[in-house]
Amino acid sequence: MIQPFRRLAQIKQSLAIGVLMLGAAIASAADSPREKLLMDFGWKFHLGDAPDAGTNFDFPEVKDLAKTRADQLGVELNPPLPPDFGGGISFVQNDFNDGGWRKLDLPHDWAVELPFDEKADYKHGFKPVGPGFPENSIGWYRREFDLPASDKGRTLWLEFDGVYRNSVVWLNGHCLGRHPDGYSGFRYDISRYANYGGKNELVVRVDASRFEGWFYEGAGIYRHVWLEKTSPVAIAPDGIFVWSEFQNNSPTNYVTIHVQTRLLNPQMNTTVDCELISPIGQSLGKTHHSIMQFWGWPTNQTESKFYLCPPNEPLGLLIGSGDTDSMHFPVLWSPESPKLYKLVTTVESGGKIVDREETEFGIRTIAFDATNGFLLNGKPYTIKGTCNHQDHAGVGTALPDALQDFRVEKLKEMGCNAIRTSHNPPTPELLDACDRLGLLVMDENRRMDTNSATLDDLKEMILRDRNHPGVFIWSLGNEEPLQGTNIGVEAVAVMQKLAHQLDPTRLCTIAMNGGWGKGFSEVIDVQGFNYHTANIDKYHQNFPMQPEIGTETASTVGTRGIYTNDPARGYVSAYGGEHPGWGAAPWNWWPFFAAHPFTSGGFVWTGFDYRGEPTPYKWPCISSHFGIMDTCGFPKDIFYYYQSWWQDKPVLHIAPHWNWPGREGQTNLVRVFSNCKQVELFLNGKSLGKQGMPANEYLDWNVIYQPGVLSAKGFDEKGKLISETKVETTGAPAAIQLTPDRSTINADGEDLSIVTVSVVDSKGRVVPVADNEINFSISGGKIIGVGNGDPSSHEADKASQRKVFCGLAQVIVQSTKESGKIRLTATSPDLRKAEVVIKAKASAPRPFVP
Ligand code: GAL
Repeated sequence: MIQPFRRLAQIKQSLAIGVLMLGAAIASAADSPREKLLMDFGWKFHLGDAPDAGTNFDFPEVKDLAKTRADQLGVELNPPLPPDFGGGISFVQNDFNDGGWRKLDLPHDWAVELPFDEKADYKHGFKPVGPGFPENSIGWYRREFDLPASDKGRTLWLEFDGVYRNSVVWLNGHCLGRHPDGYSGFRYDISRYANYGGKNELVVRVDASRFEGWFYEGAGIYRHVWLEKTSPVAIAPDGIFVWSEFQNNSPTNYVTIHVQTRLLNPQMNTTVDCELISPIGQSLGKTHHSIMQFWGWPTNQTESKFYLCPPNEPLGLLIGSGDTDSMHFPVLWSPESPKLYKLVTTVESGGKIVDREETEFGIRTIAFDATNGFLLNGKPYTIKGTCNHQDHAGVGTALPDALQDFRVEKLKEMGCNAIRTSHNPPTPELLDACDRLGLLVMDENRRMDTNSATLDDLKEMILRDRNHPGVFIWSLGNEEPLQGTNIGVEAVAVMQKLAHQLDPTRLCTIAMNGGWGKGFSEVIDVQGFNYHTANIDKYHQNFPMQPEIGTETASTVGTRGIYTNDPARGYVSAYGGEHPGWGAAPWNWWPFFAAHPFTSGGFVWTGFDYRGEPTPYKWPCISSHFGIMDTCGFPKDIFYYYQSWWQDKPVLHIAPHWNWPGREGQTNLVRVFSNCKQVELFLNGKSLGKQGMPANEYLDWNVIYQPGVLSAKGFDEKGKLISETKVETTGAPAAIQLTPDRSTINADGEDLSIVTVSVVDSKGRVVPVADNEINFSISGGKIIGVGNGDPSSHEADKASQRKVFCGLAQVIVQSTKESGKIRLTATSPDLRKAEVVIKAKASAPRPFVP
């Protein structure tokens, strides 16, 4: 172990010395010469290709974009496009009259706006986009914007967080490039083609004619677009890498905060200052780094270090200043306590500040151990995870940022502590939400391949995401045909090596559903298991030195509020016992993982329902049943199974509802999800018996149906009553209730209030069988989508009406940039109407391109 005094000596020798600076003014990115402007507002859109597109866009691509087969591995098919590419096409021209095009704001998914079509691909949710639907599969976007003359000499970056898919971008008629992948971010330096002091025309062609996945993927510019302006001497894109390293990877030891800064165009007199800010906003210290090297050439990369002292060290030893007030003990990041530090990086050149950026990060240790599984901050930490696609009711893949927070909060409420971004890199705002609210992330690459385009996508994901404390592992692929093959070994080795080079702090996994012990298994850091719980123990016995993780499991199917399978209507019983052959009921996989730490825990397929993959049905079913919650985030009954065993607060939940007219005298299965030690069930006040609750299980009663009140009491191990709940036979639908998740939102044109619509009886109880159609009107804001979680609903998502499904629907309300009252009204014949007022609070929109 390095002694504190020796450590001190090392710090003093370091070129970049961290000095504690309590009380000094903190540098802020607000006064940075860098401008990051949101470019989401004010686009024009045309569905369908340009009449004169010709064969310009017939780019060669591999046959199967979803999975890599042996004959496709490493095939290079993405040559750069010349600047004059497509320059003669009408839609690309600066003076093209787009007056007839539709006006819209991003993020935008045009697939979700189309009607359902039985002839369309069921895996993609029966939306008529993709193979067989050329007329709906290509979209063009145009955006005019001004640039001041003073921007000349700056570097201008146009950044796309994700476009589905195969986009080509032009600025002022010059082609900037093509980006085939629908999930990775990309950017273009537009400085050369920009018109300073005048108008600029940005044109994007998006081609969703082919699928990359086997699930709903949307279509269009479905993530943010940014215009970023910097000085020529600047921090490079994704040019900051900050991570913490504890001595022996033990959080009770000294921690070193490593900072790498990559610069563009550094000069001899360029300097880099880094300031470390604590989770409560204290400045902890600064480093100063001069670019000039002794041998005379500027380098484009600097490395700095900060040291923080462990709580058990005598105060003052680390910096030796005797100023004990200035000691700071590292505050660890975890899902339970997601504390974030900030790094402020300032670049000066020629005596002037030329760039400043703020980077949030967390201090924590991660490790995998073949016996104890995943360790967070030095302790075994069981992953209670869910896999999810980016898809929500009402909006498809085009999720405004507030929806990311909403979904993360729902998952956390269930006790979930990790998310797998299946099967692609996520939108950056999901990672921000996970860091801030506390979820670990398995960050997944889309395509497993070794050609340069795919390796570039992997590189982009890692450089972009490696500062996020939530990200704890990289996933290189999912259920790849090459998984058990020799050629697969090579492919994974190349990808994993690249990942390790770009990020020496995290390991890699790959989600396998066969071929274990061969192929990928020979090289992958952490063995991923999709399903096949029965094989996991044996694998561990055969390969006791290799860590494992449950990359995907469960695939339990169920429809919220429905208790019998109904193939005609496309519904599956929500009791929790239904699953396809490869899947499992919650209680058939979780107890095994809970009891075997070497598994590291696992990720349920899926947290939320998503469009497409309507297993076990097809038409009329258009969305999946795999979610623990439906597409709106309304919990299904098994939500309470996971909540019981994934967190510590008492849970007591009864399934089904108690509205069964016509079933009087017949036996109903009643299932109780709870973590109470004993549960007693009552019908109309009469006890139906008490049962002990086995860990990680549930309880069943067979109950002869009589209308009334079915109630339950939950007791702790001492027999003390700790929880009560009931379901009641309700009256007929009588009124509508509107419940916003937030009653005050920012008037920034982006923020959301997600409103639950309930149909209730005369006593205010949700009627669990109600299916009334509700009409909505709004003033002071916008409805950007409606939904109800019905996997067979063919109603429009972009509409001002929606039926409730099993009593519930959802309206997603967005603010405009005007503050004031947003008034949402809901009416339906025969029901008392409802109105809710949401306050749109004056707040500056984040900087945007006007
Ligand atoms: C898995 C696959 C997922 C999803 C799931 C449905 O094999 O990785 O993407 O298709 O099956 O059960």
